[in-house]
This record gives sequence, structure tokens and C-alpha cells, in this order.
Amino acid sequence: STSTADFKVADLSLAVFGRKEITLAEHEMPGLMSLREEYGTAQPLAGARVTGSLHMTVQTAVLIETLVALGAEVRWASCNIFSTQDHAAAAVAVGPDGTPDNPKGVPVFAWKGESLEEYWWCTEQALTWPNTPTGGPNMILDDGGDATLLLHKGVEFEKAGSVPATSPEDPEEYGYVLGLLRRTLGENPQKWTQLASEIRGVTEETTTGVHRLYEMQQDGTLLFPAINVNDAVTKSKFDNKYGCRHSLVDGINRATDVLIGGKVAVICGYGDVGKGCAESLRGQGARVVITEIDPICALQAAMDGYQVATLDDVVETADIFVTTTGNRDIIMAADMTRMKHQAIVGNIGHFDNEIDMAGLAKVPGIVKDEVKPQVHTWTFPDGKTIIVLSEGRLLNLGNATGHPSFVMSNSFTDQTLAQIELFTKPEEYPIGVYVLPKHLDEKVARLHLDALGVRLTTLRPEQAAYIGVKVEGPYKSDHYRY
Ligand code: NAI
Repeated sequence: STSTADFKVADLSLAVFGRKEITLAEHEMPGLMSLREEYGTAQPLAGARVTGSLHMTVQTAVLIETLVALGAEVRWASCNIFSTQDHAAAAVAVGPDGTPDNPKGVPVFAWKGESLEEYWWCTEQALTWPNTPTGGPNMILDDGGDATLLLHKGVEFEKAGSVPATSPEDPEEYGYVLGLLRRTLGENPQKWTQLASEIRGVTEETTTGVHRLYEMQQDGTLLFPAINVNDAVTKSKFDNKYGCRHSLVDGINRATDVLIGGKVAVICGYGDVGKGCAESLRGQGARVVITEIDPICALQAAMDGYQVATLDDVVETADIFVTTTGNRDIIMAADMTRMKHQAIVGNIGHFDNEIDMAGLAKVPGIVKDEVKPQVHTWTFPDGKTIIVLSEGRLLNLGNATGHPSFVMSNSFTDQTLAQIELFTKPEEYPIGVYVLPKHLDEKVARLHLDALGVRLTTLRPEQAAYIGVKVEGPYKSDHYRY
């Protein structure tokens, strides 16, 4: 890999290709591009030092360069070991005005296929700012909450004066965090406490990261304000749903090229992601079966025309299994031993604990073989094989390129507006977890209408008065569900 003092990517020469795809993506990201126009002169993020931990894709490159266009300095890492698009990372490091020989872009620490140790090193690099007063960022942009977790654990252990030997939560992955924090505690016992004191806030991208933030708020351990970007309507009802509708089949196709029509596909979880996934596979002609624990979502699935069953009911007969729950232990090794020959198993939820990969590896006599990167067969002693995608990590980013630009433009316009809110109005956001104000949510949707040829009806004043809203919005109460 190519490395200088202040970035690390797989191959800088990929920057030319990356820049071409970024240019195409910009046209598909009207929300971000119009924020560049609206705020380019005012520079609301001047003085912001943003550390980002979010899948380093082409779409994220457009986000990063939007933050820069609004005045921010940025350092970046990916939030998953397989999700980086190396040409996008290279183009961001080189920057629009640089060349591979003379990179002038944003410090980015990300490549496809990091080890877990490298992953946490990259996260630390993104959080460590050379030549600044505190050596750290003053804003975090997170996806899944790993940058926020590192800071919070760092502060917790600095207060305690020591780092525990092991963690029950996730012994393998978490071990690297503990090792890293043991080292920083030795080098500078106040590193994370100092860094955290400078942070104005974090904007969090996904369901799983938001869940962690509300837990910290409840425990009283949250150190700075947070905006829950995920629960902006223009995020979770679009990215999680329509994004996965696109990128789930993309991942399965690129990984296996199996014909989906006529197959039985099981989607575990019928939340926003599950709804998009189910529609995606039904669109290809699969017979889709849903598993749910929530009676409301189970009833929705049934009324949407899907069979709702338990995994146990269908594990021996289905062809494709996808977990979308954000929960742990959804498909266990014992389930996988019962599946059909060449059943396909993948996860699209944020973390890799939905599928029991550790348990699968421990099945006596099982043999793992790599078909190609992120596609593995696991052969049981009786000769039966199953196909596991992206080692149980989110397959739409591991096996394909994640969500397409247009839907990410919505999510990332929410992200950018959330960064501006927290950075420019700290007095309005005491420590706590907030959602984006509804007028901004509606603004993000509005910015994406023209590109699709949508002609919006204008509310007349008498009508606005009759339903009790302003002509210019917001149009719905905060509890409206869309
Ligand atoms: P959600 O909360 O809307 O949906 C999850 C659903 O899973 C819920 O309806 C819940 O009742 C159900 N569930 C929980 N435990 C279950 C079990 N044991 N069996 C069956 N169903 C169960 O969450 P959302 O927004 O759909 O996100 C799901 C996950 O996907 C999260 O980890 C999120 O961070 C991630 N995500 C991934 C994306 C990607 O591109 N790969 C995009 C957006 C979100």
C-alpha cells in the first residue's frame, strides 16, 4: 500500500479512476451539490475539524469534499474492514487539485480488506490531528459508532487509570480496542479525555450506532451532544429501504450470480432494511419468507404479502438467507448445518454478530475455501457446502459497492446539515441525542425532487390553515410515521 506521513490507502494510482466516478456521482447527488452552492461563500464549517468513520466509497468522497467546500478540515477512516472502494480512497487522498505524485487531498486511512488491528489503527489515525492545539477533532461523523466508542472507552479507562484485560462483549474485535487503549494510556494518560473535551458533537449515520448513543445517554456516560441522522425520515425511510432494495441483489449477484427467480429467500427482520431487502428479492421473482419478533412488523410483512415463519420452519428448505436485524445470534452454526447444499448466507445489518461465524468455524471437520475475496464455501464433513458472503459482514458493501449515489445524497445531505447544526449552534444542543429538525428533513427531500421530475403541489393558505400547518411547512407532526 501507498503511505506517506499522513494518509494510507491501497494504491494512489487508482485516483484517476476514482475521480471519474466521483464526477459521475456528483451529478447524482443534487442535495450535496446544492449545499455547496448555498453555503460555499458563508463557510459555516470554517474551523471545524471533522473526523469521519464511514464506509470510504465514491458517495462518501462526495460527502467529504462537500464538508471541505463548506470550510471544514477532514480526516477519514472506513467503518468496516471490507467496505472501502480503493479508487475512491485514492481520489480523496489525492484531491481534485492534486496528482498521484503530488497528493493534496484529505488524510484518509482506509483500504479494502483491513485486518481488525489495522481497522482500529485507521480509526485512531482519523482521530489524531497533527499540528492542532489539542491533537484531535472538534466534530465526529460516525457510522455504527466506532469512533465515538473509542473516545468514550478511552475516557472511561483514563478515569479508572487502567484498561481491563478482556471484554465479554466481543472478545476478538474488542481485544484490539483494549490493546490500543492500553498503549495510549501508557503514552499519554489524558489523550482521550483531552480529545473528548474539545468535541462539539457527533452525527451518527446508522440504526446500530444510534442504539449505542441512546444507551450512553441513559447510562449518563454520553460525553457530547449527538444528532441521530438515521431517524431523519429522508435517511432511514430512504437509504435503509430503497438503498438496500438496490444493493442487496447487487451484492448477491456479484458474489454468486445465482438466479434469484423461483428461489426461496428468507429475510430475518422486517424493519426499514428488511422491507427494502424483501422487495428487492421479490422483484427478482424469489418467494420471500420473513422472520420477525415484533408483532407489528410481522403483521406488516403478512399484509405486504410475504409468508412469515420462524427460521426453524424454513431453514432446511430455503435457498438464500439474509439477516437485517441489527441484533445478534440470528443464524447460528446449528442452523447452518441444517441448510440445503449451496444455500447462500449473508448479513446486511451493521455488525457481523448476526451470523455465528465463530460457531461455524468450530463445527468438527468443516472446511472453509475461498472462491474469491468475500465469497467462501464452508463444506461440512458429509460433503454439503454452504456459501457465506463477506465473512458475515454487511454484504452490500463487502460484495458490491453499497447504496447508489442518489439515495446516499439524501443521507449525506442530512449528515452535512446535522454537522452545521451542532457546529454552529452549540448552545441549542446540550449533551443529549437529537433528531434533525423537521424543516431540514423536508428541505433534504425538496432538494431531490427536480432531478426526478417531481412537480410538487403548493398548499393554498386556506388549506394550510384548515390542516393547521404553515404553507412552507413543516407539514407533519413529529410523531407522524410516513
Ligand atoms: P430496524 O430496527 O428498523 O429493523 C430491525 C428489525 O429486526 C426490527 O423490526 C426487529 O423487530 C427485527 N428483529 C430483531 N431481532 C430479531 C430476531 N431475533 N429475529 C427476527 N427479527 C428480529 O433497523 P433497520 O434500520 O432496518 O437496520 C437494521 C440493521 O441494518 C442495523 O444494524 C443498521 O445499522 C443496518 N443498516 C445497514 C445498511 C446497509 O447498507 N448495509 C443500511 C442501513 C442500516
